[in-house]
Amino acid sequence: MLKTIDCGAIRAEHVEQQVTLAGWVHKRRDMGGIIFIDLRDRSGKVQVVVDASKTAEAFATAEQIRSEYVLQVSGTVARRMAGQENPNLPTGDIEILATAINILNTAKTPPLQIDKEANEDESLRLKYRYLDLRRERPQRNLILRHKAIKFIRDFLDERGFLEIETPILFKSTPEGARDYLVPSRVHPGKFYALPQSPQQLKQLLMVGGIERYFQIARCFRDEDQRADRQPEFTQLDMEMSFMERDDILNLIEELMVGMAKKVSLVPLTSEKFARLSYHEAMERFGSDRPDVRYGMELIDISEIAGQTAFQLFADNVRAGKPVKAICAKGCGGYSRKEMGDLEEFAKGHGAKGLAWLAIHPETQEIRGPIAKFFTVEQLLALTERMGAEPGDLILISTDVKWTVYKVLGELRQELARRLGLTKNTGLTFCWVVDFPLFEETTTEEGHYAPSHHMFTSPKRAHIPLLDSDPHAVLSEQYDLVCNGFEVAGGSIRIHERPLQRKIMDLIGFSWEEAEEQFGHMLEAFEYGAPPHGGIAPGIDRLMALMAGEPNIREVMAFPKNQNAMDLMADAPSHVVQRQLDELHIALAGRAIG
Ligand code: AMO
Repeated sequence: MLKTIDCGAIRAEHVEQQVTLAGWVHKRRDMGGIIFIDLRDRSGKVQVVVDASKTAEAFATAEQIRSEYVLQVSGTVARRMAGQENPNLPTGDIEILATAINILNTAKTPPLQIDKEANEDESLRLKYRYLDLRRERPQRNLILRHKAIKFIRDFLDERGFLEIETPILFKSTPEGARDYLVPSRVHPGKFYALPQSPQQLKQLLMVGGIERYFQIARCFRDEDQRADRQPEFTQLDMEMSFMERDDILNLIEELMVGMAKKVSLVPLTSEKFARLSYHEAMERFGSDRPDVRYGMELIDISEIAGQTAFQLFADNVRAGKPVKAICAKGCGGYSRKEMGDLEEFAKGHGAKGLAWLAIHPETQEIRGPIAKFFTVEQLLALTERMGAEPGDLILISTDVKWTVYKVLGELRQELARRLGLTKNTGLTFCWVVDFPLFEETTTEEGHYAPSHHMFTSPKRAHIPLLDSDPHAVLSEQYDLVCNGFEVAGGSIRIHERPLQRKIMDLIGFSWEEAEEQFGHMLEAFEYGAPPHGGIAPGIDRLMALMAGEPNIREVMAFPKNQNAMDLMADAPSHVVQRQLDELHIALAGRAIG
């Protein structure tokens, strides 16, 4: 070992002990005859004092060193002089009086300042991620992640789960994104697909009698990147036989509460997770991943609005389109420009316009372009229904219900951000259950799109509706939501071939396609597949929430940027012609750059 103790572990109890440390030069201050070095390793920092009058040789070495040099330092632990202690540092009571310094490696001036979190461009941090990782924040996040995964492994092991690895080179497992394909050298023209999740494999493990499976599984999805999406990410993938929906929800709640208490840097607000039906989530929050940390719920005002002289409201209500509103507390004083911005925002989410009424904080006068269409009684009824007070702003949307949900759901989130309602809150989880089996819209060919994935079971009582009204069928899907982010998705699965074939039919797979792509699943269901279900919490999203980070890149060691590129290694990159030839690949002209 090049060191006898970690820098950050030294305390007053070590005073007078001889120690050897190894680490990076965090900071160096030359005070003339004395040089101070803050030496850093993963555990923390400690102050090293090099006194020219005591150790001429070490001093000569210390004079040469620069930030981020790698040193081995031997010395004696000493108590700092009274008044020189640093209460902000765990090692702030002591310092190391150096007797010898050995330069293990030199360093160029780093393009990032390691000792300071500057507001530099993220691409610089990603290009030099190995330097960025030396900083406190990413190390704190990776430690959190390690602890969380250790907690998960212990928790599931205690409950009889087996951790099993499934292949990465596999066949297309659709989860709604595009596949990453890997060409086969030995089978010209054929491709493996990287799993979008181990969905099929974990179900086949259930057919294989494993009963309780989990995996810290890498998943690959070629889709647009966002703050909470990466092309490769990690799921806690789980599947269980002979368990029912509530057994699974209870188990996951216990896991999340335990993990939040044991490792999370952000506290949990409640150990009981609310359960909302999809319908209720959409009606109250305009979203199937509702942020339930604050109110500002969508309220149906069709009854009042339909009676006003405002034609659009009256027409829409007559046509069965809802009029809904949210009340933004204290936003009644928004300027014309601020209102214009909100309207643009609403239009960006599909609104044709945005109606609003603002209540003056003192005079209580109600202003807004549509105010004149309301009688005094109607205005009173509206403010009462909305719970609006002087100084509040009522935002109204009317259209088909999906547009109203979207517009008000997004406005609600945007206003919450502006009002600071989402700042420094704890973690608030809720479940969304009873999803429709299929998305509202069908494809151009009239096929249905699964709301979760095609292996999700319809509710048993709804199976007859598959023939008469597929859109009315509810499923056994459940999503776990935390602070407005979907952190897990799962379902009870179909385990019988005829039902699985029927769903594939509705989704638009021909018999040949179904056999070709999923023949192995369909066949497996014929050999005594047990009733089973599962779930997959997204580790990256959970870690970002538990670390209080704004995006999942902060909790991944080597994330890709918003364009799915690794800026450090410059991937994806061109390959040599020989490799392409071996893989039987000819590039289309425009792809050769
Ligand atoms: P689903 O597609 O809902 O379900 O994914 C489960 C969870 O994985 C996380 N997640 C992502 N995280 C980061 N980047 C991404 N691109 C990304 N996509 C998804 C989310 C999400 O809730 N096989 C099913 C699970 C099951 O049914 O058991 C599945 O993958 O946190």
